[in-house]
Amino acid sequence: MTILDYQNSSLPVAKRVSDLLFRMTIEEKIGQMLQVSYNQVTPTEAEEWVTGKFAGSFLHVLGDNARHLQELSESTLLGIPILFGIDAIHGHALNTRATVFPSQLAMACSWNEALVEEAGRITAKEVTADGLHWTFSPLLCIGRDLRWGRIDETFGEDPYLIGVLASAIIKGYQGKSLSDPDSILACAKHFLSYGESTGGRDSYDSEVSIRSIRAIFLPPFQKAVEAGCATFMAGYQSIDGTPMSANSKILRGILKDEIGFKGFVVTDWNNVGSLITYQHVAADMKDAARKAILAGNDMIMNTNAFYDAAVQLVKEGVVPESTIDESVKRILTVKFELGLFDQKRRTQVTVSKTVLNCPEHQDKNLQITRESMVLLKNEHHTLPMGKDLQKIAVIGPNADDIQAQFGDWTFFSHPDPNPTAVPLASYYTMLTGVKQLAEKRGIEVLYDKGCDVMDSSIQNIDAAVALAAKADRIIAVIGDCLAQNGEIKDRADLSLSGAQPLLIKRLKELGKPLIVVLVNGKPLAIPEVAEGADAILETFNSGAMGGLAAAEILFGEASPSGKLSISFPYHSGQLPVYYNQLPGWHTPGKYMDMPESPLYSFGYGLTYTSFAYSNLKLSQSRCSDGDKIRVQVDVTNTGAVDGMETVQLYVQDRVSSVVTPVKQLKGFKKVAIAKGETQTVELPLAISDLYIVTPEEEYIVEPGEFTIMAGSSSRDQDLLKTTLVVE
Ligand code: BGC
Repeated sequence: MTILDYQNSSLPVAKRVSDLLFRMTIEEKIGQMLQVSYNQVTPTEAEEWVTGKFAGSFLHVLGDNARHLQELSESTLLGIPILFGIDAIHGHALNTRATVFPSQLAMACSWNEALVEEAGRITAKEVTADGLHWTFSPLLCIGRDLRWGRIDETFGEDPYLIGVLASAIIKGYQGKSLSDPDSILACAKHFLSYGESTGGRDSYDSEVSIRSIRAIFLPPFQKAVEAGCATFMAGYQSIDGTPMSANSKILRGILKDEIGFKGFVVTDWNNVGSLITYQHVAADMKDAARKAILAGNDMIMNTNAFYDAAVQLVKEGVVPESTIDESVKRILTVKFELGLFDQKRRTQVTVSKTVLNCPEHQDKNLQITRESMVLLKNEHHTLPMGKDLQKIAVIGPNADDIQAQFGDWTFFSHPDPNPTAVPLASYYTMLTGVKQLAEKRGIEVLYDKGCDVMDSSIQNIDAAVALAAKADRIIAVIGDCLAQNGEIKDRADLSLSGAQPLLIKRLKELGKPLIVVLVNGKPLAIPEVAEGADAILETFNSGAMGGLAAAEILFGEASPSGKLSISFPYHSGQLPVYYNQLPGWHTPGKYMDMPESPLYSFGYGLTYTSFAYSNLKLSQSRCSDGDKIRVQVDVTNTGAVDGMETVQLYVQDRVSSVVTPVKQLKGFKKVAIAKGETQTVELPLAISDLYIVTPEEEYIVEPGEFTIMAGSSSRDQDLLKTTLVVE
């Protein structure tokens, strides 16, 4: 049998792509640009999309069904393999047997790139064990408007931290080489400033300027390009009136031409249809398809009518075939790089059983989960709990609710809501974690749900309080629930919902040490909890190991080391509260009826020890653009136990031609420091990173003085300061 050039794995990818492209009809080319959603078609229709229209990709299809479609694709004339995509957002969690990691927001609180990379690696192994190739992750939107329902999916509020963690997880997903059978494609989404939609309402217009795009929203995506991220997803939102999937200035101009993205762009779910139905910038499907192709979208997610419209557009000469070729080339290149044509990646469902959530993956998950938890308050040494206890009361609606603990993007909510689904991999709720460690110590655990997260009925509270009255310690597990997080689940009111405020008040009145464990998708406005609790542990959506990791921290088997990746408000009306705001006249910018600072600030988090900072030094105090300096600071563990500290480096431009943020994170390092030990921590700072974006959209470093700050959080009182002069 003759081996054609595109089938010959010893030839370079570019040669194989051009050979294949040359053999393809326009129908086959447009088919490659289509991504069909498996749960939106019948199994027979899915087969027809493969054999009759050569669909290039499917999403949300698992195991045997994926293998069947792949086999069908091999029976077509050219046998172009299908690329299977899945939302493996915090683990391959649409599969009931897979490892469920903490949410991106929680993982970001670890400030530990190595562990975030591991989470990506493990996810890739589990996704490929299911025969799939591509995850729609990471999400690089900036979590500034906490009302938005997808804050849990972000790496928090800071572009620098997001960029570092994005690079790490992309590295984890894509592995050493894309062609390794356990590597998957990453997808940086949702390009660009999707999280800024008006009023925090998902998919609405993003009111940002081109300058703020360049200064704030683009940098994490730039890092993703530098990390070799193979795919990008265009968001739902419009920017200043132009829907992202019709925005050629940003998709073609900035992403592809300017910052040199070489992979392919997929639209979000039916973005092309939405140009007609929601955003009203296209009259019909042909109009919408033309706009989307010309803007630079390469693959079209779940707009099946795109196929006929696009074929017609090319046949009528409205869209040049060369423009289609550009997109198809990008898609085929990625398919070749992934080794799809070389039979390396046949669906191997049998492997799943040994790889999915294997003990090694559970151990790593536990490690990252521990580091993702943030101790927000700890008065009178309430934590860790002593050994002398007889009875602990675990009270609250989120104590034994694995759906609230997992959060969005697991089999409970996707691809279709399935609240009765049963996790087939092991997991710990807060209750089961506390019980396991309490039992070892001979401590009795009492439990009552107390109330509901969303229902304000108070009828169960009396019983819960009566039970709590019998214990030496109360652990109240409260927060939000799955129904309050996710797409189209934006909240105007971030205060504690249902009867939870009353539950906390009544528990507090018992006068016993009250420990609050927060299980929530995103920061809530909880001043009453901050005031009333003796200790608060923030766990966000902590995944399958959440209960065990929290219990280890509560009992002192592990020390907390997380720092907030996002700030907490006192009140929803105080938003936004992100730390890196621009200064105004009425410094420090407070409302007359609200404190000036957030309830808890970005970068903040306590440990079981204490750290003192001293001796902030720069390797040179005068420098010029192009230089790289070193910032050094001594950190001493002044407490009684060993601990980990995340040393943070912030800068402020003292005089600049445009208004710049009050401070901006430019580096961090997480270090383990033994009790009594002092470490000199060194952080590199490239002067080119001190750039501003001018009104003319230029990136320049202006001479002058910069304040360099190092310390344990973004709060002024936690930072040492010195001066750097750029000449
Ligand atoms: C979401 C994306 C997701 C896609 C596929 C969309 O609704 O916005 O983040 O990847 O669906 O499930």
